[in-house]
Amino acid sequence: MNTFHHFLNELPKAELHMHLEGSLEPELMFQLAQRNQITLPFDSVNAIRAAYQFSNLQDFLDIYYQGANVLQTEQDFYDLTWAYLERCKAQNVLHVEPFFDPQTHTERGIAFATVINGIDRALKDAEQQLGISSRLIMCFLRHLPESAAFATLEQALPYQDKIMAVGLDSSEKGFPPELFERVFTKAREAGFLTVAHAGEEGPADYIGQALNLLKVERIDHGVRCVEDPALVEHLINIQMPLTVCPLSNIKLCVFKDMREHNVLELLERGVKVTINSDDPAYFGGYMTENFVAVADALPMTKAQAIKLAQNSFEASFLSDAEKAEWVKRLQQL
Ligand code: HPA
Ligand code: ZN
Repeated sequence: MNTFHHFLNELPKAELHMHLEGSLEPELMFQLAQRNQITLPFDSVNAIRAAYQFSNLQDFLDIYYQGANVLQTEQDFYDLTWAYLERCKAQNVLHVEPFFDPQTHTERGIAFATVINGIDRALKDAEQQLGISSRLIMCFLRHLPESAAFATLEQALPYQDKIMAVGLDSSEKGFPPELFERVFTKAREAGFLTVAHAGEEGPADYIGQALNLLKVERIDHGVRCVEDPALVEHLINIQMPLTVCPLSNIKLCVFKDMREHNVLELLERGVKVTINSDDPAYFGGYMTENFVAVADALPMTKAQAIKLAQNSFEASFLSDAEKAEWVKRLQQL
């Protein structure tokens, strides 16, 4: 790590786009497979890592859902979440708003309660023991039907004290946000905030749909907004946050090379972009690795790094007073 890399690691940051199932490192996958007597289609940690070559989102999702099969008990979900939070601590990521995909687990017969209780206990322990605050986001899998999303929303209602918002993830192309307008309306009526993946592989029009039909607070990814100049202007005017995931975008071939990534260009144009890790165990790193990859390829100034960190707190679901505290702290750097 050079001095600037060290600065990026120590910069207080918030992470707003990270799938807990995507933080399952091969080592823990192996451990949980043994604990739960599950046979993996790999015979070593190295073989798992070697399989992480993707040419698009679906390639990745196939492996990601397979990996999640080792998660069985409440303790497994606790251990998964805790391992992520320890990484956050080491990288000075002090506020997190992670996603989880209940349908990946309930479809395999794991109880919703098992998933949410394990995750929630780790998040509460992290607040106490690591000083990391959090808000949890439940995602609907968009490749599954609307009826399945409605059933999942129903299951979440008793846990509203533990879940701040709902999101939309999985295979994007062919599954536009409009398919989930009704379930998002019901979620908002129940008191959940909303976010959605849009404009990662799907077209800029999906971003418009997420804004207009799902009434999202943030767009997850959103990098294809540049294909519609009027949309970019709109995103700037309403200061709509985009939770951009640079290493993910390279691994899934959304951009060929980090030097072609548009995150700093969007930042300079006044779009409220943030940097996030998406699925850190699969894409080559956590928050610091994402900041470093952008800084090395583009390059990034210290002022830009601070602005990205400031955006991450401002785009969070923290209160205005909490946001102001973080901004003040960052402006002293
Ligand atoms: N896009 C869509 N679905 C996902 C992703 C992603 O980047 N990561 C985990 N599920
Ligand atoms: Zn994602």
